[in-house]
Amino acid sequence: MTTPGKFITLEGVDGAGKSTHLAFVADWLRGQGREVIVTREPGGTPLGETLRELLLHRDMDADSELLLMFAARQAHLAELIWPALARGAWVLSDRFTDASYAYQCGGRGIAAERIVTLENWVQRGFVPDLTLLFDVPAEVAEARRSAARVADRFEREADTFFNRVRNAYLARACAEPGRICVLDARQDIAALQREIAQLLERLL
Ligand code: TYD
Repeated sequence: MTTPGKFITLEGVDGAGKSTHLAFVADWLRGQGREVIVTREPGGTPLGETLRELLLHRDMDADSELLLMFAARQAHLAELIWPALARGAWVLSDRFTDASYAYQCGGRGIAAERIVTLENWVQRGFVPDLTLLFDVPAEVAEARRSAARVADRFEREADTFFNRVRNAYLARACAEPGRICVLDARQDIAALQREIAQLLERLL
């Protein structure tokens, strides 16, 4: 008998370090014998990856940005996430809809109700089983980002933008404490991984 799959998302401001932890979560779950699919947003399908290129590199207004995020998300759910979960796989996504609330609502100032409308349309009530929110102050994230590669459209934003993004993420975590777990991403990696493993154990 296959156990039902679960949907886990990783979130945080650019530079919080979630990519490192994504690999840990995937390995940990595989070690428990689960089939794991690792994916990302925007992206995850051929259409989604094409939209990602535009979203990360082409200037556009905030509403176009939000609508393209959800167009990519629709394809991602229909073509990859829902079929994988239906066959019992665990799906890990590097970002999902919480990022739209954090970046397009918190960061860009789009009204939350617009995002709620799109979320209801595209997701029909579907939400992640667990969201790991890697939280760091904007200055720490900035220092980590500048050590990395060439910045995309989002990464070029100012600290004030990332402060708003961070606050929007934290507000969502306060509103949904059962699903969104806030992790202090300034801790050393081993401590963080122990905390992540405990959260995953509860989901098995
Ligand atoms: P990111 O996940 O940080 O990828 P990388 O680690 O390769 O830089 O990049 C995706 C960017 O997309 C990130 O800056 C946040 C943004 N984004 C939104 O603004 N809204 C969304 O709904 C999603 C999924 C992502």
